[in-house]
Amino acid sequence: MKSFYLTTPIYYVNDAPHIGHAYTTVAGDVLTRWHRQRGESVWFLTGTDEHGQKVMRTAEQNSVAPQAWVDKLVADAWKPNWEALNIANDDFIRTTEPRHTERVQKFLQSLKDSGHIYAGKYEGPYCVGCEEFKLPGDLIDADGEKLCPIHSKPIELVNENNWFFKLSEFAQPLIDHYKNNPEACQPESARNEVVSFLEGGVSDLSISRSTFDWGIPVPWDTDQVVYVWFDALLNYATAVGLTDAPDSEGGKKFAATWPADVHLVGKDILRFHAVIWPAMLMAAGIEIPKKVFAHGWLLVGGEKMSKSKLTGIAPSDITDHFGVDAFRYYFLRAIPFGSDGSFSWEDMSARYTSELANDFGNLASRLAAMIEKYCGGKVPAVAKDAALAESLQITVDKADAAMVALDFQGGINAVMDYCKQVNGFVTIKEPWILAKDPANQAVLEEVLYNTAEALRALAVLLHPVMPATTEILWESLGAKEALGEIGKQEISNVATWGQLPQGATVTKTPVLFPRLEVKE
Ligand code: ME8
Ligand code: MG
Repeated sequence: MKSFYLTTPIYYVNDAPHIGHAYTTVAGDVLTRWHRQRGESVWFLTGTDEHGQKVMRTAEQNSVAPQAWVDKLVADAWKPNWEALNIANDDFIRTTEPRHTERVQKFLQSLKDSGHIYAGKYEGPYCVGCEEFKLPGDLIDADGEKLCPIHSKPIELVNENNWFFKLSEFAQPLIDHYKNNPEACQPESARNEVVSFLEGGVSDLSISRSTFDWGIPVPWDTDQVVYVWFDALLNYATAVGLTDAPDSEGGKKFAATWPADVHLVGKDILRFHAVIWPAMLMAAGIEIPKKVFAHGWLLVGGEKMSKSKLTGIAPSDITDHFGVDAFRYYFLRAIPFGSDGSFSWEDMSARYTSELANDFGNLASRLAAMIEKYCGGKVPAVAKDAALAESLQITVDKADAAMVALDFQGGINAVMDYCKQVNGFVTIKEPWILAKDPANQAVLEEVLYNTAEALRALAVLLHPVMPATTEILWESLGAKEALGEIGKQEISNVATWGQLPQGATVTKTPVLFPRLEVKE
């Protein structure tokens, strides 16, 4: 069976990650966890982009050799950051690893042998921040000086004899591809941008550099290193065995994963992924990815948050205060995936309190407390409230359709609306009033069973978004012992009512979302 294969960009290790990188990686983690819970085989790749002038210069400025610089940042900042955010990636690729560099060289040689690469001369502007050869029309003019519009920094002029890739040959096939397969580039605004870029005409691409040496040597001309983007884009395929013999381990992995199902990227790097990358694959006769999804930017003061502008907020600045699960929840819940959004401490505090602490956390702790008090800490007899059971099925269908379409906000909203409905159910039934008269014990137990069962479903549906908190809830409901691991619960089975068995032991939870400390 082919795996659902999802990738994040591989990030530059010129600095530590900020919440922009975390946004993409968390989205990838949530989506792959969702697909795992659909019972699919999944492969989730992230990693680091370690070559090129941007990384090389940062290392120089810090008086460290580039390899030592990237080794330290990957070990001390990037990998621990993903671990802290509970990212369950299956692999982590670094572009300085031999498994990558060797396959890049093989791939490049094959493109050369098939006539897709030729010697030429490049003359034009280059932005080291973007690591991109710019077109004059891309630049902004500031008092006669040409600036990169993304980095607001002067571009550099490159004048080198380089190797070129015949990118122009693939403009028409790509236009046709996106017109025939609209799902291949999402959202629609991104696809329109790519198609109009392609229709504007595409030049061949310089794919090597000769004025510095921090990169993969061009196999037939070792005075040149491979252009960092040509090297970096290949990670998605080298990590799963590109160029390996079909009967080898790498070849089998490739067959089981390729083509990638989703490349998640920010819109800053859309063209690389929707133009250059599929053209490279087309040239090699390899199937192209099924979907590139370009999400929007997290903004600071109306501009893209970035490492180079020093506007990056570290994920720990937020998780120290709100916790990891609230961080994972907030950005996907608050910003429609594909649109830009600003991070605001006030909005995050408000949602934390009303949606997570009040709607979800309180429901869980009230239920556990009532089952302890009124039912001796055991799940009462199975009961079925028709309205709750029915809207659970609707919720699951809605959430599943939204999540697989990368509409995280829609998916989470569907689940949180159900949470609100369950709260309404408890408010109307008033179990604490019922408990005053022993004659109501049977009705009281029905109310509590229905609430517990709804929480069972909420825990499973929110697990991809908030894995640690829902795990605590799962154990508190006695569900782990009765039903097994929460991560093994399938989405298609969530709406089957009556899974929590009578007699399961419910324990009081620690508060899932503690009251926020007042920030000075
Ligand atoms: O571009 N808002 O790496 P990079 C949202 N190495 N997402 C953001 C963001 C923001 N303000 N800032 C960064 C590179 N991101 C290349 C990629 S892939 C073959 C090579 C996220 O370190 C978003 O996913 O500049 C964006 O596309 C990516 O980080 C860029 O990371
Ligand atoms: Mg960048």
